[in-house]
Amino acid sequence: MKPPPPRPLIAAARPVEIPDHHREGMLRLDMNENQWGPSPRVLTALSSLLDDDGRTLSLYGFHEQLLDLLSEQLHIPTEEILITAGADEGISLLFDAFRDSDDTVVLPDPTFVTFLSEAETTGATIQRVPYREDLQFPRQEFLEAMAARPRMAIIVNPNNPTGTAVGIDWIEELCNKAPDTLVVCDEAYVEYHGETTLSIRPRPTNLAVVRTFSKAYGLAGLRVAFVVAHAEVVASLQKVRTPFSVSTPALVAACAALEDSDFLQAHVLMVRKEMSSLVEALQGLGIDAKPTRTNFILLHAGHDKPKLVSALASQGIIVSDRSHDAGLEGVLRITVGRPDQNERLVNALKRAV
Ligand SMILES: Cc1ncc(COP(=O)(O)O)c(C=O)c1O
Repeated sequence: MKPPPPRPLIAAARPVEIPDHHREGMLRLDMNENQWGPSPRVLTALSSLLDDDGRTLSLYGFHEQLLDLLSEQLHIPTEEILITAGADEGISLLFDAFRDSDDTVVLPDPTFVTFLSEAETTGATIQRVPYREDLQFPRQEFLEAMAARPRMAIIVNPNNPTGTAVGIDWIEELCNKAPDTLVVCDEAYVEYHGETTLSIRPRPTNLAVVRTFSKAYGLAGLRVAFVVAHAEVVASLQKVRTPFSVSTPALVAACAALEDSDFLQAHVLMVRKEMSSLVEALQGLGIDAKPTRTNFILLHAGHDKPKLVSALASQGIIVSDRSHDAGLEGVLRITVGRPDQNERLVNALKRAV
Protein backbone atom coordinates (compact mmCIF):
# COMPACT_ATOMS: atom_id res chain seq x y z
CA MET A 1 0.00 0.00 0.00
CA LYS A 2 1.25 3.50 -0.83
CA PRO A 3 1.67 6.15 1.91
CA PRO A 4 -0.53 9.28 1.79
CA PRO A 5 0.67 11.69 -0.92
CA PRO A 6 2.15 15.10 -0.06
CA ARG A 7 0.61 18.39 -1.24
CA PRO A 8 0.43 18.42 -5.08
CA LEU A 9 3.04 21.22 -5.22
CA ILE A 10 5.50 19.11 -3.26
CA ALA A 11 4.78 16.00 -5.33
CA ALA A 12 5.63 18.00 -8.46
CA ALA A 13 8.72 19.74 -6.98
CA ARG A 14 12.30 18.68 -7.71
CA PRO A 15 14.23 17.37 -4.71
CA VAL A 16 16.65 19.88 -3.17
CA GLU A 17 20.04 19.18 -4.67
CA ILE A 18 22.64 18.21 -2.11
CA PRO A 19 26.04 17.44 -3.68
CA ASP A 20 26.30 13.66 -3.58
CA HIS A 21 30.06 13.30 -3.91
CA HIS A 22 31.87 11.04 -1.57
CA ARG A 23 33.35 13.94 0.43
CA GLU A 24 35.43 12.16 3.09
CA GLY A 25 39.12 13.03 2.66
CA MET A 26 38.45 15.16 -0.42
CA LEU A 27 39.55 18.79 -0.83
CA ARG A 28 36.13 20.47 -0.87
CA LEU A 29 36.29 23.61 -2.96
CA ASP A 30 32.70 23.46 -4.19
CA MET A 31 30.58 25.13 -1.49
CA ASN A 32 32.30 28.45 -0.72
CA GLU A 33 33.15 27.41 2.81
CA ASN A 34 35.80 29.24 4.82
CA GLN A 35 38.86 26.97 4.52
CA TRP A 36 40.67 28.53 7.49
CA GLY A 37 38.13 27.75 10.21
CA PRO A 38 36.63 30.22 12.71
CA SER A 39 38.30 32.59 15.16
CA PRO A 40 40.21 30.93 18.06
CA ARG A 41 37.76 32.77 20.34
CA VAL A 42 34.98 30.62 18.87
CA LEU A 43 36.91 27.47 19.77
CA THR A 44 37.45 28.70 23.34
CA ALA A 45 33.77 29.61 23.70
CA LEU A 46 32.68 26.23 22.36
CA SER A 47 35.00 24.33 24.66
CA SER A 48 33.57 26.25 27.64
CA LEU A 49 30.29 24.49 26.87
CA LEU A 50 31.90 21.35 28.21
CA ASP A 51 32.44 22.95 31.67
CA ASP A 52 29.95 22.03 34.37
CA ASP A 53 29.69 18.55 32.80
CA GLY A 54 28.21 20.13 29.69
CA ARG A 55 24.96 21.06 31.42
CA THR A 56 24.56 24.13 29.20
CA LEU A 57 24.02 21.71 26.34
CA SER A 58 20.94 20.40 28.11
CA LEU A 59 19.32 23.83 27.90
CA TYR A 60 17.49 25.44 24.98
CA GLY A 61 19.32 28.39 23.46
CA PHE A 62 18.00 31.95 23.79
CA HIS A 63 18.83 34.74 21.38
CA GLU A 64 19.19 37.81 23.65
CA GLN A 65 22.97 37.95 23.84
CA LEU A 66 23.52 37.57 20.11
CA LEU A 67 20.70 40.01 19.35
CA ASP A 68 22.24 42.60 21.68
CA LEU A 69 25.68 42.21 20.10
CA LEU A 70 24.33 42.48 16.56
CA SER A 71 22.22 45.46 17.56
CA GLU A 72 25.27 47.19 19.04
CA GLN A 73 27.55 46.46 16.07
CA LEU A 74 25.03 47.23 13.32
CA HIS A 75 23.30 50.14 15.13
CA ILE A 76 19.93 48.50 14.53
CA PRO A 77 17.25 47.88 17.22
CA THR A 78 16.84 44.25 18.27
CA GLU A 79 13.19 44.29 17.07
CA GLU A 80 14.52 44.59 13.52
CA ILE A 81 16.74 41.48 13.73
CA LEU A 82 15.76 37.81 13.59
CA ILE A 83 18.32 35.07 14.35
CA THR A 84 17.90 31.99 12.14
CA ALA A 85 19.42 28.54 11.68
CA GLY A 86 21.44 29.51 8.62
CA ALA A 87 20.45 31.94 5.89
CA ASP A 88 18.49 29.07 4.40
CA GLU A 89 16.04 29.19 7.29
CA GLY A 90 15.73 32.98 6.98
CA ILE A 91 14.93 32.64 3.26
CA SER A 92 12.40 29.91 3.96
CA LEU A 93 10.64 32.03 6.64
CA LEU A 94 10.45 35.03 4.29
CA PHE A 95 8.68 32.90 1.68
CA ASP A 96 6.40 31.28 4.27
CA ALA A 97 5.34 34.65 5.65
CA PHE A 98 5.16 36.78 2.52
CA ARG A 99 4.02 34.95 -0.53
CA ASP A 100 0.69 33.45 -1.46
CA SER A 101 0.19 30.96 -4.27
CA ASP A 102 -1.14 33.61 -6.67
CA ASP A 103 1.77 35.99 -6.02
CA THR A 104 4.68 36.71 -8.35
CA VAL A 105 8.30 36.50 -7.26
CA VAL A 106 10.98 38.15 -9.40
CA LEU A 107 14.27 36.27 -9.40
CA PRO A 108 17.47 36.98 -11.30
CA ASP A 109 18.78 33.93 -13.14
CA PRO A 110 21.08 32.29 -12.22
CA THR A 111 21.07 32.89 -8.49
CA PHE A 112 21.33 31.03 -5.19
CA VAL A 113 19.36 27.83 -5.60
CA THR A 114 17.38 28.00 -2.32
CA PHE A 115 15.40 30.98 -3.65
CA LEU A 116 14.21 29.00 -6.64
CA SER A 117 13.29 25.91 -4.63
CA GLU A 118 11.43 28.03 -2.05
CA ALA A 119 9.53 29.87 -4.79
CA GLU A 120 8.66 26.56 -6.46
CA THR A 121 7.47 24.75 -3.35
CA THR A 122 5.42 27.69 -2.14
CA GLY A 123 3.60 27.86 -5.47
CA ALA A 124 4.53 31.41 -6.46
CA THR A 125 4.62 32.48 -10.10
CA ILE A 126 8.31 32.87 -10.80
CA GLN A 127 9.47 35.59 -13.15
CA ARG A 128 13.12 35.02 -13.99
CA VAL A 129 15.29 37.87 -15.20
CA PRO A 130 18.46 36.58 -16.90
CA TYR A 131 21.85 37.97 -15.90
CA ARG A 132 23.67 39.69 -18.76
CA GLU A 133 26.11 37.81 -20.95
CA ASP A 134 29.01 39.49 -19.12
CA LEU A 135 27.42 38.19 -15.85
CA GLN A 136 26.48 41.70 -14.67
CA PHE A 137 23.15 42.23 -12.89
CA PRO A 138 20.30 42.97 -15.37
CA ARG A 139 19.32 46.32 -13.85
CA GLN A 140 17.02 47.66 -16.54
CA GLU A 141 15.18 44.36 -17.10
CA PHE A 142 14.76 43.86 -13.35
CA LEU A 143 13.20 47.31 -12.99
CA GLU A 144 10.87 46.53 -15.90
CA ALA A 145 9.80 43.31 -14.13
CA MET A 146 8.57 45.46 -11.23
CA ALA A 147 5.69 46.58 -13.46
CA ALA A 148 3.96 43.30 -12.49
CA ARG A 149 4.00 44.57 -8.86
CA PRO A 150 5.56 41.33 -7.57
CA ARG A 151 5.11 40.31 -3.95
CA MET A 152 8.84 39.64 -3.58
CA ALA A 153 11.98 40.54 -5.53
CA ILE A 154 15.22 38.72 -4.82
CA ILE A 155 18.74 40.10 -5.13
CA VAL A 156 21.79 38.13 -4.05
CA ASN A 157 24.58 40.66 -3.64
CA PRO A 158 27.25 39.64 -4.51
CA ASN A 159 25.56 36.84 -6.37
CA ASN A 160 26.24 33.13 -6.12
CA PRO A 161 27.13 31.75 -8.69
CA THR A 162 28.09 34.72 -10.92
CA GLY A 163 30.18 36.43 -8.20
CA THR A 164 29.08 39.87 -9.46
CA ALA A 165 27.42 42.66 -7.48
CA VAL A 166 25.01 45.50 -8.12
CA GLY A 167 25.42 48.95 -6.49
CA ILE A 168 23.75 49.73 -3.18
CA ASP A 169 22.34 52.98 -4.62
CA TRP A 170 20.56 51.00 -7.29
CA ILE A 171 19.00 48.65 -4.70
CA GLU A 172 17.78 51.71 -2.79
CA GLU A 173 16.24 53.08 -5.99
CA LEU A 174 14.53 49.73 -6.60
CA CYS A 175 13.06 49.69 -3.08
CA ASN A 176 11.71 53.21 -3.58
CA LYS A 177 10.23 52.40 -6.97
CA ALA A 178 8.46 49.24 -5.76
CA PRO A 179 7.08 50.09 -2.30
CA ASP A 180 4.58 47.18 -2.35
CA THR A 181 7.27 44.60 -3.05
CA LEU A 182 9.36 42.97 -0.34
CA VAL A 183 12.91 43.32 -1.68
CA VAL A 184 15.04 40.50 -0.24
CA CYS A 185 18.76 41.14 -0.42
CA ASP A 186 20.94 38.13 0.40
CA GLU A 187 24.34 39.36 1.58
CA ALA A 188 25.98 36.01 2.38
CA TYR A 189 29.31 37.27 0.96
CA VAL A 190 29.10 40.85 2.25
CA GLU A 191 32.27 40.68 4.33
CA TYR A 192 34.32 39.96 1.18
CA HIS A 193 32.46 42.54 -0.88
CA GLY A 194 32.54 45.31 1.73
CA GLU A 195 29.30 47.07 0.71
CA THR A 196 25.97 46.51 2.43
CA THR A 197 22.39 47.69 2.02
CA LEU A 198 22.37 48.15 5.80
CA SER A 199 24.26 51.39 5.13
CA ILE A 200 21.12 52.85 3.48
CA ARG A 201 19.63 55.37 5.94
CA PRO A 202 16.76 55.46 6.56
CA ARG A 203 16.47 51.78 5.66
CA PRO A 204 13.57 51.21 3.22
CA THR A 205 10.62 49.61 5.02
CA ASN A 206 10.29 47.04 2.19
CA LEU A 207 13.92 45.81 2.40
CA ALA A 208 14.81 42.51 4.11
CA VAL A 209 18.53 41.72 4.36
CA VAL A 210 19.75 38.15 4.86
CA ARG A 211 23.20 37.66 6.45
CA THR A 212 25.05 34.55 7.59
CA PHE A 213 27.88 33.35 9.82
CA SER A 214 28.53 30.49 7.36
CA LYS A 215 31.04 32.20 5.08
CA ALA A 216 33.62 34.71 6.37
CA TYR A 217 32.96 33.81 10.03
CA GLY A 218 33.59 30.13 9.26
CA LEU A 219 30.55 28.65 11.04
CA ALA A 220 28.74 26.83 8.20
CA GLY A 221 28.64 23.60 10.18
CA LEU A 222 26.88 25.27 13.13
CA ARG A 223 24.00 26.90 11.17
CA VAL A 224 23.50 30.46 12.34
CA ALA A 225 22.49 33.58 10.44
CA PHE A 226 20.12 36.55 10.71
CA VAL A 227 17.60 38.68 8.86
CA VAL A 228 17.39 42.45 9.25
CA ALA A 229 14.07 44.03 8.29
CA HIS A 230 11.37 46.43 9.49
CA ALA A 231 10.07 45.44 12.95
CA GLU A 232 6.68 44.47 11.46
CA VAL A 233 8.37 42.20 8.92
CA VAL A 234 10.39 40.57 11.70
CA ALA A 235 7.19 40.16 13.77
CA SER A 236 5.62 38.32 10.82
CA LEU A 237 8.65 36.04 10.49
CA GLN A 238 8.38 35.27 14.22
CA LYS A 239 4.90 33.86 13.56
CA VAL A 240 6.13 31.18 11.15
CA ARG A 241 9.34 30.17 12.88
CA THR A 242 10.00 27.39 15.35
CA PRO A 243 11.31 28.75 18.66
CA PHE A 244 14.53 26.76 19.10
CA SER A 245 15.85 26.09 15.60
CA VAL A 246 19.21 27.73 16.44
CA SER A 247 21.32 25.51 18.69
CA THR A 248 23.07 26.69 21.86
CA PRO A 249 26.58 26.02 20.41
CA ALA A 250 25.66 28.05 17.31
CA LEU A 251 24.54 31.03 19.42
CA VAL A 252 27.64 30.87 21.63
CA ALA A 253 29.94 30.59 18.60
CA ALA A 254 28.29 33.48 16.75
CA CYS A 255 28.74 35.79 19.77
CA ALA A 256 32.43 34.88 20.05
CA ALA A 257 32.91 35.33 16.30
CA LEU A 258 31.36 38.81 16.38
CA GLU A 259 33.66 39.81 19.21
CA ASP A 260 36.77 39.08 17.11
CA SER A 261 36.67 41.73 14.40
CA ASP A 262 40.48 41.56 13.94
CA PHE A 263 40.17 37.92 12.95
CA LEU A 264 37.44 38.72 10.44
CA GLN A 265 39.44 41.53 8.85
CA ALA A 266 42.56 39.38 8.61
CA HIS A 267 40.53 36.56 7.04
CA VAL A 268 39.04 38.82 4.37
CA LEU A 269 42.48 40.23 3.48
CA MET A 270 43.89 36.70 3.28
CA VAL A 271 41.11 35.55 0.93
CA ARG A 272 41.64 38.58 -1.33
CA LYS A 273 45.39 37.95 -1.44
CA GLU A 274 44.97 34.23 -2.10
CA MET A 275 42.33 34.94 -4.75
CA SER A 276 44.72 37.17 -6.73
CA SER A 277 47.61 34.69 -6.45
CA LEU A 278 45.36 31.80 -7.49
CA VAL A 279 43.89 33.64 -10.48
CA GLU A 280 47.36 34.75 -11.55
CA ALA A 281 48.74 31.20 -11.29
CA LEU A 282 45.83 29.78 -13.31
CA GLN A 283 46.05 32.49 -15.95
CA GLY A 284 49.77 31.64 -16.17
CA LEU A 285 48.69 28.13 -17.22
CA GLY A 286 46.55 29.64 -19.99
CA ILE A 287 43.33 28.99 -18.00
CA ASP A 288 40.56 31.61 -18.13
CA ALA A 289 40.11 32.25 -14.39
CA LYS A 290 38.31 35.31 -13.00
CA PRO A 291 38.22 36.79 -9.50
CA THR A 292 34.89 37.75 -7.93
CA ARG A 293 33.61 39.91 -5.03
CA THR A 294 33.18 36.77 -2.88
CA ASN A 295 35.39 33.90 -1.66
CA PHE A 296 35.22 31.95 -4.94
CA ILE A 297 36.62 32.32 -8.44
CA LEU A 298 35.07 31.34 -11.75
CA LEU A 299 37.00 29.19 -14.15
CA HIS A 300 35.76 29.36 -17.72
CA ALA A 301 36.78 25.92 -18.96
CA GLY A 302 34.52 25.73 -22.04
CA HIS A 303 34.85 22.41 -23.89
CA ASP A 304 37.64 21.31 -21.52
CA LYS A 305 35.26 21.30 -18.57
CA PRO A 306 34.51 17.53 -18.37
CA LYS A 307 38.23 16.75 -18.69
CA LEU A 308 39.15 19.21 -15.91
CA VAL A 309 36.36 18.12 -13.53
CA SER A 310 37.28 14.46 -13.80
CA ALA A 311 41.03 15.17 -13.56
CA LEU A 312 40.44 17.17 -10.38
CA ALA A 313 38.11 14.52 -8.91
CA SER A 314 40.70 11.82 -9.59
CA GLN A 315 43.19 13.92 -7.62
CA GLY A 316 40.78 14.30 -4.69
CA ILE A 317 39.52 17.81 -5.43
CA ILE A 318 35.81 18.70 -5.69
CA VAL A 319 34.76 21.88 -7.52
CA SER A 320 31.29 23.07 -8.50
CA ASP A 321 30.30 22.58 -12.14
CA ARG A 322 27.85 25.42 -12.96
CA SER A 323 27.04 24.27 -16.51
CA HIS A 324 23.36 23.81 -15.62
CA ASP A 325 23.09 27.53 -14.75
CA ALA A 326 21.94 29.94 -17.45
CA GLY A 327 24.94 31.69 -19.03
CA LEU A 328 27.49 29.54 -17.18
CA GLU A 329 27.99 26.70 -19.67
CA GLY A 330 31.50 25.28 -19.16
CA VAL A 331 32.09 27.30 -15.96
CA LEU A 332 33.50 25.92 -12.70
CA ARG A 333 33.01 27.72 -9.38
CA ILE A 334 36.00 27.15 -7.10
CA THR A 335 36.35 28.24 -3.46
CA VAL A 336 39.55 30.13 -2.65
CA GLY A 337 41.49 28.00 -0.21
CA ARG A 338 44.58 28.25 1.95
CA PRO A 339 47.94 28.57 0.15
CA ASP A 340 48.64 24.80 0.40
CA GLN A 341 45.18 23.96 -0.95
CA ASN A 342 45.50 26.42 -3.82
CA GLU A 343 48.90 25.00 -4.68
CA ARG A 344 47.37 21.52 -4.80
CA LEU A 345 44.62 22.81 -7.10
CA VAL A 346 47.04 24.59 -9.42
CA ASN A 347 49.31 21.52 -9.64
CA ALA A 348 46.33 19.28 -10.40
CA LEU A 349 45.16 21.64 -13.16
CA LYS A 350 48.70 21.92 -14.52
CA ARG A 351 48.75 18.14 -14.96
CA ALA A 352 45.26 18.20 -16.51
CA VAL A 353 45.98 20.86 -19.13
C1 LIG B 1 24.06 33.46 -1.57
C2 LIG B 1 23.93 32.46 -0.48
N1 LIG B 1 22.97 32.60 0.44
C3 LIG B 1 22.82 31.73 1.45
C4 LIG B 1 23.66 30.64 1.54
C5 LIG B 1 23.41 29.64 2.63
O1 LIG B 1 23.87 30.14 3.82
P1 LIG B 1 23.63 29.35 5.17
O2 LIG B 1 24.76 28.38 5.31
O3 LIG B 1 23.68 30.43 6.20
O4 LIG B 1 22.30 28.68 5.10
C6 LIG B 1 24.68 30.44 0.62
C7 LIG B 1 25.55 29.26 0.71
O5 LIG B 1 26.31 28.93 -0.15
C8 LIG B 1 24.81 31.37 -0.42
O6 LIG B 1 25.75 31.23 -1.36
